[in-house]
Amino acid sequence: MELPFAESWKIKMVEPIRKSTRAEREQWIKEAHYNVFQLKAEQVYIDCITDSGTGAMSDRQWAAMMMGDESYAGASSFFRLKETITRITGFNYVVPTHQGRAAENVLFSYLIKPGDVVPGNSHFDTTKGHIESRKAFAIDCTIDEAKDTQLEIPFKGNVSPEKLEKTLIENKGKVPFIVVTITNNTAGGQPVSMQNLREVRAIADKYGIPVLFDSARFAENAYFIKTREEGYADKTIKEIVKEMFELADGMTMSSKKDGLVNMGGFIATRREDWYEGAKRFCIPFEGYLTYGGMNGRDMDALAVGLDENTEFDNLETRIKQVEYLAQKLDLYGIPYQRPAGGHAIFVDASKILTNVPKEEFPAQTLTVELYLEAGIRGCEIGYILADRDPVTRENRFNGLDLLRLAIPRRVYTNNHMDVIAAALKNVFDRREQITHGVKIVWEAELMRHFTVQLEPVK
Ligand code: F0G
Repeated sequence: MELPFAESWKIKMVEPIRKSTRAEREQWIKEAHYNVFQLKAEQVYIDCITDSGTGAMSDRQWAAMMMGDESYAGASSFFRLKETITRITGFNYVVPTHQGRAAENVLFSYLIKPGDVVPGNSHFDTTKGHIESRKAFAIDCTIDEAKDTQLEIPFKGNVSPEKLEKTLIENKGKVPFIVVTITNNTAGGQPVSMQNLREVRAIADKYGIPVLFDSARFAENAYFIKTREEGYADKTIKEIVKEMFELADGMTMSSKKDGLVNMGGFIATRREDWYEGAKRFCIPFEGYLTYGGMNGRDMDALAVGLDENTEFDNLETRIKQVEYLAQKLDLYGIPYQRPAGGHAIFVDASKILTNVPKEEFPAQTLTVELYLEAGIRGCEIGYILADRDPVTRENRFNGLDLLRLAIPRRVYTNNHMDVIAAALKNVFDRREQITHGVKIVWEAELMRHFTVQLEPVK
C-alpha cells in the first residue's frame, strides 16, 4: 500500500484555542460593528484572517533568536540576514524594514512622484495605498482570465503583456517601475509563471523601465513553477527562486509570509541608485540601516526562515493543506477561485449569496455568516477592500467579491480544515435564505476595511 502524505514536521509546542456559543458570537460581532478586524482574537475559534505573521516558527528559528545581536549599528544579525538574502535572491543591497508596507513606504518615497503610473498584477491594498497616497495611479494589468473564478489555469496571477505594453505606451515618461506581485494575493494567491516573468522583463527592457517584485509569497510561487511549469520539475526551489529574481531589479518583502516570521520586512535590490534612495528614507521612517525596525534576534529568525521555506518539503506540506481544504469544498460544491491558491482559498461570495445585492457587500456578509456559524474568521477581499475610486469617490464594484480563508503556516491541522469546510457548507446550505447584507455606517478614506463600521440591512 502506498503511504499517504503527511506533514514534514512534528509539533513541539501547542496553544489552546476555545469554541464559543452562537449567542456569544452574535453579541461579539455586533460590538465589532460587523467587521471581523474589530473582534478580539480570543473571540475566534479558527483564525483564517491572514497568513501574515501568524505562522509557527521552527525549533531552529527559536534557537537562532538566542544569537541575536542587538547592537544599534553593525549588528552581526544584520549581516547574517543580508548574506542569506543575497545568497537566495542574488540581490546584494539589503535594507531591513519592520514589515512589507514599510518597505513599500521607504522605496516608493524615493521612486514615486505625483502623476506617476505604476502598472502591475492586482497590486496588494497597501501597495495600492502607497501609490495612491502619493497621488499616483496603480494600473491593474492582470490577465482577464483571473476574473473568472471557475476557470482552471495554472498561472492565473500572470501579467497581461498586452495590457502592460499598452499602459507603458500611453504613459510614456510617467512609469517609475512595474510591480509584479508573486504570488498574486488579490487574484486568489495565484502564481505567476517564469515565462510570464520573462515576458514582463522583455517589455520592461524594451521601454527602459525597472521591475520590482512584491515578493511576500515568492517561495510559494516557486513551488507552483516547479510543480506546474514545463522544464522546472527537476530544479530545486532555491534554483527557481534565483532564476525568478534574476528577472527583477529589486524586491519588497513582507517577511511575515514566506519569511516564516511574525514580524519583519526588507527591500533588496541590485541597483545602487535604489539602494541609495531607500537609505535616505529608511533612517527617518524605520531606523538605522542595519536594523530598519527589526530586533537583531528577529533578523536571525528571518534568516533561518528564508532558508527553511525555500526547501521543497516545507512548501509541499503547506500547499497540500490548502489543497486539502479546496478538495473538501469541491465535495460540497462550494465555488472558490480555481485552482486553489498558495496561501488561501478565496470563496466566490457573489456566486453563493446571489440574493444579496452588490451594494450590500456579499463577501462581507458571508464573512460575518461564517463567523456566526462556527467562530471561524476569514476576511473580505472584495468590494469593501477595493475602497472608493480616488476621483469619483464611488464604490468599486468591478473586481471580484471574495471571502478569503488564509491558512497560517504550520499552525492548524487538517482536522481544523474539516471544521472550516463543514461550517462553510452549513452556511452554503442556507444561502437562499440570506437575502440582506450589510451597509456602511462609518469608513476611512483609504484602506477602509480595517476600521469600517457596518450594520446589517434589515
Ligand atoms: N504585499 C503583499 C502581496 C501582501 O500580501 C502584503 C500583506 C503586503 C505586501 C504588505 O506586507 O503586511 O508586512 O506590511 N498582506 C497581508 C495579507 C496583510 O493578509 O494578505 P505587510
